[in-house]
Amino acid sequence: MRARPGWDVDDSDLVERSLRAGLSAAMATDAFGRRIDYLRISVTDRCNLRCVYCMPGGGVAWRDQSELLTFNEIVRFAAAAADEGISKIRLTGGEPLLRKGIADLARRLRALNGVESIAITTNGTLLPRLARDLAAAGIERVNISLDSLDPDAYSGVTRGGRLKNALAGIDAAFAAGMRPIKINVVVMRSLRQDLVSLARLTRDRPVHVRFIECMPIGGGDDCGGAGWGVDDWTEANHVPSDEILARLAVEGAEAGLGELESVEPDDAPGGWGPANYYRFEGAEGTIGVISPLSHPFCSQCNRLRLTADGNLRTCLFSDEDFDARRVLRHGTEAGLHSLIHAALAAKPESHNLRIGTVRRMSQIGG
Ligand code: 5AD
Ligand code: SF4
Repeated sequence: MRARPGWDVDDSDLVERSLRAGLSAAMATDAFGRRIDYLRISVTDRCNLRCVYCMPGGGVAWRDQSELLTFNEIVRFAAAAADEGISKIRLTGGEPLLRKGIADLARRLRALNGVESIAITTNGTLLPRLARDLAAAGIERVNISLDSLDPDAYSGVTRGGRLKNALAGIDAAFAAGMRPIKINVVVMRSLRQDLVSLARLTRDRPVHVRFIECMPIGGGDDCGGAGWGVDDWTEANHVPSDEILARLAVEGAEAGLGELESVEPDDAPGGWGPANYYRFEGAEGTIGVISPLSHPFCSQCNRLRLTADGNLRTCLFSDEDFDARRVLRHGTEAGLHSLIHAALAAKPESHNLRIGTVRRMSQIGG
């Protein structure tokens, strides 16, 4: 086994402890003892929508095709990462379904030694066409962005998207047998979202609706300060998750959804991330809240990110890039392992969210 930075025990001790715990010997751990087993791979920076919290209205300068990792490069990287202990992979974007052949990529990733599960995060609009292929390729878990059930509000927040396309995407995911199906709702005060109508989606179908505090991401000089970002994010527009839950409990009861109960982690929809789950009495699905600002969860962080242009990132809020593309194109497999070790060693203990980042969400991988 290779030496990994940040281990405070020698290899033989760790291997023995892993075996005793019934775990594989490959276990990536960062300098703070966090086990890193989850890799998010962005396959494109492009999107067919322009959500206000993710992209400036005028779009961002797309990366040139030659700058994007090829499928062969992505698979080589993922194989090295899986060797290091990555067992869960999520495909993201931009909009990952815009990348031609995405189901083939998923199939190749799923076949890698050590990879146990592949998920995807999408705006859902292309699922009616692709859900079956994705499911057949081994993608079970799907997260679909849906910030409002009001057609005008949906069109406003996505800058022109059509609600019925996203809803058709959810139906297609169900029909294809993808599970769990999670709906991501980014909450902002200025959107005046009807949270209960979204929560009602959980009543009759096993969908899991997750309310996410909007994060100040991106907004540096490269996008002219337009749209959402550190320059636009304000405390006044931030809705803390405790308020989201309080509103759901009161408005949900008024709307006849019954009592909002907390769900023990064992009964939650098996997440890889930081959501806390609740359920309206008797509902099929659950309600999740994700609170990066009001209750930071860095101490449980289990992930690395690979951007579409081949930079390995240790944290959504770090602008420090590890250039995996250069190693993939000009280096060796051993070099890839060293790069992953270096990234693990550099993974920060926590973020300073209110300072924000330069790259936009769609450029990092949402
Ligand atoms: N804050 C919180 N979540 C965001 N997403 C994108 N931008 C932001 C942001 N600024 C999430 C949404 C979307 C996914 C692609 O990324 O949940 O569903
Ligand atoms: Fe596209 Fe998703 Fe960003 Fe919206 S949040 S613009 S759907 S990548």
